[in-house]
Amino acid sequence: MSEPLLHSCGPRRLYVRTFGCQMNEYDSLQVRRQLADLGYVPVDDIGRADVIFLNTCSVRGKAEQKVHSFLGSLRRLKEAKPHLKIIAGGCVAQQLGQKLLDRFDHLDMVVGTRAVNSIGQLLQQMEESGGRATFLHDEGNWGAGLDCREIMPQSGVTAPLTIMRGCNNHCAYCIVPSVRGPERSRRPGEILEEIRQLERSGVREVLLLGQNVNSYGRGLDEEISFAGLLRRIAAETGVARIRFTTSHPKDLTEELMVCFAEMDILCKHLHLPVQAGSDRVLARMNRGYTAGAYLEKVGRLRRICPEIALTSDVIVGFPGETEEDFRTTMELIEEVQFDNLFSFRYSDRPNTKATAFADKVDGQTSALRLAELQGRQAEITLQKNLAEAGSTREVLVEGPSKASNGQMTGRTSQNRIVNFDGPLSSMGKILDVRITFAYSHSLKGEAVER
Ligand code: SAH
Ligand code: SF4
Ligand code: F3S
Repeated sequence: MSEPLLHSCGPRRLYVRTFGCQMNEYDSLQVRRQLADLGYVPVDDIGRADVIFLNTCSVRGKAEQKVHSFLGSLRRLKEAKPHLKIIAGGCVAQQLGQKLLDRFDHLDMVVGTRAVNSIGQLLQQMEESGGRATFLHDEGNWGAGLDCREIMPQSGVTAPLTIMRGCNNHCAYCIVPSVRGPERSRRPGEILEEIRQLERSGVREVLLLGQNVNSYGRGLDEEISFAGLLRRIAAETGVARIRFTTSHPKDLTEELMVCFAEMDILCKHLHLPVQAGSDRVLARMNRGYTAGAYLEKVGRLRRICPEIALTSDVIVGFPGETEEDFRTTMELIEEVQFDNLFSFRYSDRPNTKATAFADKVDGQTSALRLAELQGRQAEITLQKNLAEAGSTREVLVEGPSKASNGQMTGRTSQNRIVNFDGPLSSMGKILDVRITFAYSHSLKGEAVER
C-alpha cells in the first residue's frame, strides 16, 4: 500500500457518484478501493470532498442529460474550493472524451470505461503534471487490463461482480458496444477467488454482471460456458445465493435453463429483455430472434422451472414502429405476464444504426404508448405480488428497511422485496417469511419458525 496522501487538513476525501447500470456500481467499487489504497477516505457529503468521481451513463439521451446537469452544478463548488479535483469516468466520458473537458472547464480529468483499473495511477499522474487530462484507451486496445484487482471488503450482504465486459451484439439502438468495447470474459479462477474473498467479508449473495452475461466464456483459453461457471461457483465457493443479469434471449441455452431447476443456490429469477413484440421491429433492432422464438424459450423455461420469475426490458417508439407493431408488444406482455418490466421511449444515440433511420416515431405517440404499456404492466405486477400473499418464502435479509422504522428488508429468490419485523441480527441470514400483504413494489411479511 502507498503512503496516504495528506493535504493541509488531513487525509483526502473522496466522493463517488454513480449513474447508470450495476456494472457502473461495480466499477465505482473498484475506484473506491484503488483510491483507498492511496489514502483517500470516502465521504457521503459532496461538500467535504477533495476529489469527486462521477461514473456516468450514456444509454439514453436522458441519462446523458443528467450527467451534464450534475457536472454543471459542480461549477460553484469548484469555484469555492479550487483544490477540488473533479473526474468524470464511465460511458459519457468514453463517448465524449476531450469534448467533455472542453465543455466543462471546471472538470479536471476524463477517464474512459477501461481506465477504472488504473484510476489511482492516472490521478497521481495528473496531480504531478498539474494539468487537466483525458485518458481514453485506443480503439484497438479494449482487451488490455481486463483483470480486476482484489476488490474492497464489502459491508453488504449482496455484492455485484462483473464477470465480463463489453458486448458483441450490435443492437441498432444501443451505444454500449461503442463505449464499452467488444465482449471480454474474466477468467473463472479469478472470479472464484473474488467470490471467496467476498464471502470472507460477509457477503452471502453475488450478482454476476455482464451486458450479455449468458454468453460468458467466449475467447477464454479454457472452455467454459456460463452454466459451467455457475456450477463451479456452487461447487467451489460457499456463497448462499447467485443472481445474474443481463441475459440475451438468443443465448439462453437449455443447459442454463436446467441450472434453474437443479441448482438450489441459483435464484429463481431471469431478466430477459425482449425489447419488442413485433418481428419486423425486432429484425430492424438487430436482436437476432423473433417473438415466437422468445415465447418458445419462455415456455420451455417455465416448464423446466415453474417457480421462475421473469422480468424484461421494452423499448417503445423504435423508428418505424407502427400502431400495429405496438399492439403486438402489448399482446406479448399480456401473454408472458412478466413479474416486472422496465420500459423506455426510444432515444437516438450517437453512432448507432437506428439514429440514421428516417422513420422516427413522434414524441407524443411514443409517450402515449409508454403510458399504456406501463399502466398495464403495473396491473400485472400488482396482481403477481398479490398472488404471493399467504405463501411462505425464503428471504435473504439484507439489512434494516429504509422505508419503515424497525423493519428489516430482504429479497425472495424471485427478487421480490419483503419488509418484515425482525432483529438486526437476522442480517445476512435466510429466513422463512410468510407474506401478509402486497404492494406494487414490495411485500410485507412476518418471519416464521423453520
Ligand atoms: N445489455 C442489456 C441491456 C443494456 S441497456 C440487454 O441487452 O438487454 C438497458 C436497456 O436500455 C435495454 O435493454 C433497452 O431496453 C434500453 N435501451 C438501450 N438503448 C436504448 C435507446 N437508445 N433508447 C431507449 N432505450 C434503450
Ligand atoms: Fe446493447 Fe444489445 Fe449489447 Fe444489450 S445486447 S448491451 S442492448 S448492444
Ligand atoms: Fe449506461 Fe454504460 Fe451501463 S451506457 S447502462 S453505464 S454500460
